[in-house]
Amino acid sequence: MRAIVFLTALLLTIGVVQATEQCINCHKSLTPGIVADYERSVMAEKGVGCLDCHGELPGHDDPSVVTHYGNRITPVPSPKYCERCHAQQVREFMNSKHAWTALIGPFKPWYNDLVNQGKLKAGEAPTEKIMRENNPYGDLRSRVTPLYPASGMMDRLGLREELDGYGNILYCLECHGSAVIVDDEGKIVKGWPNNGVGRLNPDGVPGSCASCHTRHKFSIEEARAPETCGQCHLGPDHPQMEIYEESKHGNIFFSLEDKSFLKEEDLTPENTPAPTCAICHMSGFNGVPTTHDVGERLYWELQPKISTPQWYPANLVAIGQYSPDEAKAQENRKNMMQVCQGCHSPRWVKMYFDEFDRVVEDYNKVAKSAKALLYKIYEEGLADDSNSLDEFPEFMWYYIWHHDGRRWRMGASMMGPDWAHWNGIVDTLMDKYGRLQAWYDTQLKIKKLEAMVEAAKTQQVSETAQTPEKSQPKATPFVGLPVALAAMVWIALLVKRRK
Ligand code: HEC
Ligand code: HEC
Ligand code: HEC
Ligand code: HEC
Ligand code: HEC
Ligand code: HEC
Ligand code: HEC
Ligand code: HEC
Repeated sequence: MRAIVFLTALLLTIGVVQATEQCINCHKSLTPGIVADYERSVMAEKGVGCLDCHGELPGHDDPSVVTHYGNRITPVPSPKYCERCHAQQVREFMNSKHAWTALIGPFKPWYNDLVNQGKLKAGEAPTEKIMRENNPYGDLRSRVTPLYPASGMMDRLGLREELDGYGNILYCLECHGSAVIVDDEGKIVKGWPNNGVGRLNPDGVPGSCASCHTRHKFSIEEARAPETCGQCHLGPDHPQMEIYEESKHGNIFFSLEDKSFLKEEDLTPENTPAPTCAICHMSGFNGVPTTHDVGERLYWELQPKISTPQWYPANLVAIGQYSPDEAKAQENRKNMMQVCQGCHSPRWVKMYFDEFDRVVEDYNKVAKSAKALLYKIYEEGLADDSNSLDEFPEFMWYYIWHHDGRRWRMGASMMGPDWAHWNGIVDTLMDKYGRLQAWYDTQLKIKKLEAMVEAAKTQQVSETAQTPEKSQPKATPFVGLPVALAAMVWIALLVKRRK
């Protein structure tokens, strides 16, 4: 297999060796860092030249291709440019959610509109022309959506149109991928630089291989290191890096003085002192083949409101035309267990996964209960669902499933007990659910008091109406009035605190 790749590369490169020399001669002084990385890379060693990746592909429509000192090149080679030499990796990557994640994530509402309007087929990535004619960036700002959680509060404060940068490439798109837009001359005008893993490229082929294999080293060693994944997989809503650092596996890895095993051509249980993210999720290991589909060893979806077995297919997740596939998910689980069994006994592994699955099921019960409470709150008119992100119970529900409840499940999935427990179940139940429940109880009390105040007022009015001539006021209004006043002050304080 490797020999075939090598031969193809050799044949293809004969014509570009000269050009590469030209590129290098000039770029050595212009961008010495790029040339140095390239010269150290495995691909340079095998004769892959600059034009092999940057050169125009025959028959492939890419509006970002420009004439550059006599050669037709693109500055943003999409996975399509790697495909002729790495067809398998590209195919697997395209089957993964990584490739589609700009559309599953930040561009989802925009993408759904295009599909509903018939401008795009479901599961197809937008071309540059579509992106230029239907500005994806302008659109991000104009919506209130849980995908942009702060948009709800912006709207309530009247700031949505004021804040200019929300949705620009320095937020979500840095991880999920931007939309790269060019002008009529092919010059990039928006969305670059960016190496988000699902970047929407001008040629309509999504993804960025450089998000794990930074140019121009294109190294396996770097991609296998946990830091590479940790760039995106961290933080309050998916703290995989922090979980790994806490786990025994991360402990062993970070305490190693010599990490050169990451350079090995093939990783085996014998030469691998500790698993990294890539080893569990991607590498060929203990008989499980290498994959560029990072979902291929997962049973659960741990990120949604309610966890289910893995969804398929990845390119339809963005428009909601996916379904959990129990049989495929079981197969994925078997693969993951096979990886573990390179270093652990089958019973150790099975008992671990039994416990993990129970955690996910527990979370699901709590999430269903919290969701039911939110809907009860809507039904009872205590909150209004027209803007789903501007009221206290809505914030709490969002944190329950999107932050704390994810940490709970994810901590358990990769042996991070502090994340499963303190930052997970405790935050979900005591902090967010606790506050949601307390808020609801208070609202019920307020409702009761409001009713009492109303009753006191009506009573007073009817009494004065019944005794118009009497000069001496009766005792009841004297008692009723201070009670009503005190109740109103209390309500005002509660309402103020709630905001
Ligand atoms: C005579 C000098 C020269 C040669 C030869 C040359 N380049 Fe460049 N290249 C430049 C300069 C100058 C820039 C910066 C242009 C700019 O920033 O607008 C550049 C920029 C680039 C960029 C970034 C484009 C961008 O929009 O920022 C890429 C990619 C690139 N060159 C690739 C190549 C490749 C591949 C070759 C060989 C086929 C090559 N260059 C040959 C001078 C050269
Ligand atoms: C194996 C494929 C590959 C080879 C070989 C390659 N490049 Fe690149 N190059 C890329 C990719 C991928 C990017 C990143 C584009 C992006 O995602 O933004 C890139 C980006 C660039 C950029 C812009 C990045 C920046 O930081 O400004 C320049 C300039 C560039 N390449 C020049 C070269 C030159 C010169 C050579 C030859 C010495 C070369 N490349 C060889 C794939 C390659
Ligand atoms: C013209 C063919 C060709 C193209 C185009 C090409 N590669 Fe390669 N690539 C190779 C060859 C040959 C090797 C060496 C394979 C080997 O030694 O088994 C290689 C090796 C690699 C490796 C492994 C490096 C290592 O550390 O062992 C990575 C990663 C890689 N390529 C990524 C890319 C990416 C990403 C692109 C597109 C931006 C790309 N390649 C485009 C031919 C190509
Ligand atoms: C620091 C990098 C980063 C940023 C910034 C980021 N995300 Fe994510 N996002 C991720 C990662 C990593 C995941 C995968 C979590 C998992 O599955 O464990 C993810 C998952 C998601 C998912 C769930 C996808 C699914 O399959 O259900 C959505 C939707 C999403 N992000 C949207 C957004 C939006 C919208 C923004 C900006 C408001 C954003 N993300 C900002 C890294 C990021
Ligand atoms: C999520 C991170 C990630 C992304 C994105 C990614 N790779 Fe990789 N790649 C890896 C890892 C990790 C390995 C090493 C696998 C192993 O240990 O065997 C690897 C290995 C490779 C290899 C060496 C051969 C092999 O399969 O082991 C090639 C070639 C390669 N990648 C090409 C690509 C191309 C082309 C793309 C874009 C379509 C890409 N990669 C995107 C992480 C990534
Ligand atoms: C540039 C950002 C970025 C990098 C680097 C990155 N990821 Fe991701 N990853 C994401 C995003 C965003 C998602 C969410 C995909 C979705 O569901 O839309 C994701 C999803 C995943 C998933 C869940 C897939 C599924 O089907 O549910 C796994 C597993 C994963 N990544 C593993 C890795 C590993 C391992 C690495 C390093 C080798 C890595 N990622 C590197 C951004 C990144
Ligand atoms: C010891 C093996 C192992 C290591 C190391 C590991 N993971 Fe995982 N990972 C798992 C298992 C097991 C699951 C849960 C699989 C399932 O759902 O059945 C998982 C789940 C995930 C998910 C899916 C979350 C979702 O939303 O469904 C992501 C993303 C992820 N890991 C990323 C990473 C990253 C990033 C690292 C490194 C910082 C890492 N993993 C290290 C084994 C590992
Ligand atoms: C490359 C080898 C390797 C792989 C692969 C691996 N582990 Fe481990 N794991 C270890 C080592 C070494 C330890 C430390 C064992 C000890 O405590 O003596 C460990 C510890 C553990 C622990 C104990 C953690 C604690 O804090 O008590 C659990 C649970 C575990 N692994 C589960 C898994 C699971 C599940 C997988 C697969 C998803 C896996 N491991 C994959 C090497 C590995």
